[in-house]
Amino acid sequence: MTLEELRKRAQELRAAWKKEKGEVTSPEALEAVRVKFLGRRGQLTQLLSTLKEFPPEVRAEAGRILNSLKQEISRELETQGAQLALETKKARLAAERYDLTLPGRWRPLGHLHPLTQVRLEIEDIFMRMGFDVATGPEVETDYYNFEALNIPEDHPARDEWDSFYIDEERLLRTHTSPVQIRVMKSRRPPVRIICPGRCYRRDTPDATHSPVFHQVELLWVEEGLTMANLKWIVEEFVRRFFGPGYEMRFSADYFPFTEPSAQVHIRRPGGEWLEIMGAGMVDPAVLSEVGYDPEEVTGFAFGLGIERMAMLRWGIEDIRLFYQNDIRFLSQF
Ligand code: DAH
Repeated sequence: MTLEELRKRAQELRAAWKKEKGEVTSPEALEAVRVKFLGRRGQLTQLLSTLKEFPPEVRAEAGRILNSLKQEISRELETQGAQLALETKKARLAAERYDLTLPGRWRPLGHLHPLTQVRLEIEDIFMRMGFDVATGPEVETDYYNFEALNIPEDHPARDEWDSFYIDEERLLRTHTSPVQIRVMKSRRPPVRIICPGRCYRRDTPDATHSPVFHQVELLWVEEGLTMANLKWIVEEFVRRFFGPGYEMRFSADYFPFTEPSAQVHIRRPGGEWLEIMGAGMVDPAVLSEVGYDPEEVTGFAFGLGIERMAMLRWGIEDIRLFYQNDIRFLSQF
């Protein structure tokens, strides 16, 4: 090859390099072009290896031509490499950017069932007044559900509680009152507890009845308690739970386990009277049954319907709505 031919060849290579370099858009593509020209088998590398074939008097000049091209390509590779790296980084940052001014995305959030909300609120009110929360079994014995509560086998009041029997001895509890007996048998007075829980009765479902429902039982036994204390507790509770605008009415009632006995009705503004609880002074026979001395201590108790409380709070007229799990109903609370 003559020096002239080498110059021409170098010109062609430079042109080819410029063209290819111009088309490169990624660091990977740039690396491929580098290999093509400067790699071990690269076009310029191969040309450089022909230098030794030039006669000594032109070899220096040939070397200058090729080395200056090599330097030019190396320099440009470096600049373009840096440029591409910067662009790649910018693109990545742009793609990853968070726009903190965008509105958030809505996700449906669950919440507690209205009956659970009401139960927790009732527990909260009484715990603040110093009551403990007690629990008892839903499958009860005849003794705790009736007998110990002064309702013997042949007592006509048993008809009040139409029950689901499991066998001769056991039934699904018809009220939370058996927990009173269990608690009193396990501690000495003073006793101050509430007991929330599920109850079962063989009632045909309608707007105000459900075979499964919830009560909160309350029991306070101590020296010197009277009906006036019961009335204060109930009034204070109703005030705290409903706030202003609700009316309350006490009237006489009958339960075998209390004497005297009362019932409490509540009316929401513009609504109907609804019974929320049975209550009364614990019957001396019940106190004796659990080993307390009725001459020493007196007590009062009530059994409150959780569903009734929820219906009064929100103006719900059909108790069955609580158990149908219709999301259109539940999502309102
Ligand atoms: N256990 C009664 C019922 O479910 C309600 C009741 C009445 C509970 C008077 C009491 C009470 O604790 O003193 O019908």
